[in-house]
Amino acid sequence: MRIDVITLFPEIFEPVIGSSMLGIARDRGVLEFAAHDLRQWALPGVHRQVDDAPYGGGAGMVLRPEPVYEAVDEVRAADERPGMVLLMSPQGEPFTQGVAEQLSGESRLILLCGRYEGFDERIRALADREVSIGDYVLTGGELAAMVVCDAVVRLLPGVLGGETSVEDESFTTGLLEYPQYTRPASFRGLDVPEILRSGDHARIAAWRRDEAIVRTARRRPDLIARAWNHLTDHERDVASRVIEEPSEDE
Ligand SMILES: C[S@@+](CC[C@H](N)C(=O)[O-])C[C@H]1O[C@@H](n2cnc3c(N)ncnc32)[C@H](O)[C@@H]1O
Repeated sequence: MRIDVITLFPEIFEPVIGSSMLGIARDRGVLEFAAHDLRQWALPGVHRQVDDAPYGGGAGMVLRPEPVYEAVDEVRAADERPGMVLLMSPQGEPFTQGVAEQLSGESRLILLCGRYEGFDERIRALADREVSIGDYVLTGGELAAMVVCDAVVRLLPGVLGGETSVEDESFTTGLLEYPQYTRPASFRGLDVPEILRSGDHARIAAWRRDEAIVRTARRRPDLIARAWNHLTDHERDVASRVIEEPSEDE
């Protein structure tokens, strides 16, 4: 996959893209990454202007359309794959594991990062999708773009060691992941559940599924409601018992 980011702060990306799994993905050639400085396409003049005051008044500055359109045209032309253009925006569709999975099927992504008060409305016409990483407002789209890169790239074949580690993960199954333990077996009076040390893989799998349901029902009842039709009778019983538990303030 190739990812191009158009940003006013290209230097922010290297520490993240060059480290850990993203760095490995790049070294293995699974990820091709480039961050492009929007100022390369600034308006002519000493100020290298990319933004302007909003029509109608109001605080702050808005990114002008010309630099962003020119940047997308030129970046797009650098590779034969046209690329899906994603606009980072608190007004976008929520970025979920499902969206990450869809995007991991693309061969190329072009991410647009806003700054200041955001984008001139006409820039939206450039985007195939508008993505929000949560209901809060960041200073700029760079952190959001990094979140998208991380969540998408780790799903690409050959990036993570075992593909099953992705299959069991929170949200992939529609549930939160079961509790995980490593050595030591006992730590400050807290013991690893006996069953995980039993070597009985069928019982361990059943325990993990039940624990995933218990955890999801306690922490994210909305996810249980969504998964309900896919649960077995036994799993619904497990979930119902948790849902019927008295809450702590009762
Ligand atoms: C200060 S924000 C602009 C917010 C804009 N005035 C609004 O109310 O929608 C600047 C830029 O940060 C990015 N951004 C902020 N919050 C975001 C979020 N939750 N998800 C994705 N991008 C975000 C966007 O690229 C946005 O253009």
